[in-house]
Amino acid sequence: MTNIDGNIVPTDQAAVPVLDRGFLYGDSIYEVFRTYRGIPLFMEEHFERLENSAKLVQMKISQSREELTQEIKRTVLATGATAADNVYVRYQITRGEGPIDLHPDKREKTRYVIIVTPLRAWNPKHYSVGMSMAIPSVRRNPVNALDPNIKGGNYLNNVIAVMQARKKGADESLILNAEGYVTEASNSNVWFVINDEVVTPGTGNLRGLTKAAILSGCAERGINASERQIHCEELASATECFVTSATREVMPVYCLEVLEGEFLDFPRGGGDRTREIQAVYREVVEEYLDAHSSDSFFAN
Ligand SMILES: Cc1ncc(COP(=O)(O)O)c(C=O)c1O
Repeated sequence: MTNIDGNIVPTDQAAVPVLDRGFLYGDSIYEVFRTYRGIPLFMEEHFERLENSAKLVQMKISQSREELTQEIKRTVLATGATAADNVYVRYQITRGEGPIDLHPDKREKTRYVIIVTPLRAWNPKHYSVGMSMAIPSVRRNPVNALDPNIKGGNYLNNVIAVMQARKKGADESLILNAEGYVTEASNSNVWFVINDEVVTPGTGNLRGLTKAAILSGCAERGINASERQIHCEELASATECFVTSATREVMPVYCLEVLEGEFLDFPRGGGDRTREIQAVYREVVEEYLDAHSSDSFFAN
């Protein structure tokens, strides 16, 4: 089901006006989360990131967190899901409608679009074996052009990246920046094990909430995992690779094409460190769910 400004309809019947700035210019921001046992994971952190995206694009969100939370809940319930079903929630705020003019009109009211679907199951092979990745020729938008921390409706950079990777026969893209440093995958953060250290780039990518949860979960457990710059030339010494996101959780990568026809192989199904991080994330999620059971969409 999809909720547009309070009107909930089946998703294939939902439509926004053509003058919506999200449609015209990608002038929108969004968040994606999933539920576990009816409990939304990291709800507050998602709102904080949404508000940060809004700040980065100078958007004033007309709706309050409370209103959006209520509407998200109403949409989840309208799908007929029960606490036993895991759902996917994508909520988007567009800068609303106005004349065809790049500069927004101050009077515009932001529009919200909440899409709720059953949680998509990834191909089980992406866990038992892993994903393959390739480096596309397109580079990640630099922070001083279109900051990757804007989680916005303009994803063409990432769309091109994943299309180029698929053309090379890989499942996903490992996107570099203009200087050859690793940034992220098209819709997940990327991690490597280099010299037995678990590392992920700290800048030039979206601050993933899964990444943040893993970093703090590792810190609490005394497990070494950190953010640092990773140049593509360093990748030859990587022994493991995985990606993280709200819907993928911790997904191993078994193969990376670094140069045309030059492949790095990683343990199928994830090596020891990848499995250790998977276990940390599972624990962090369980701890969160225990502490937030009252946030369940199905609680009274
Ligand atoms: C470009 C990009 N990087 C990273 C992520 C991972 O973020 P999260 O862990 O919050 O899902 C996403 C998720 O949507 C993304 O689109």
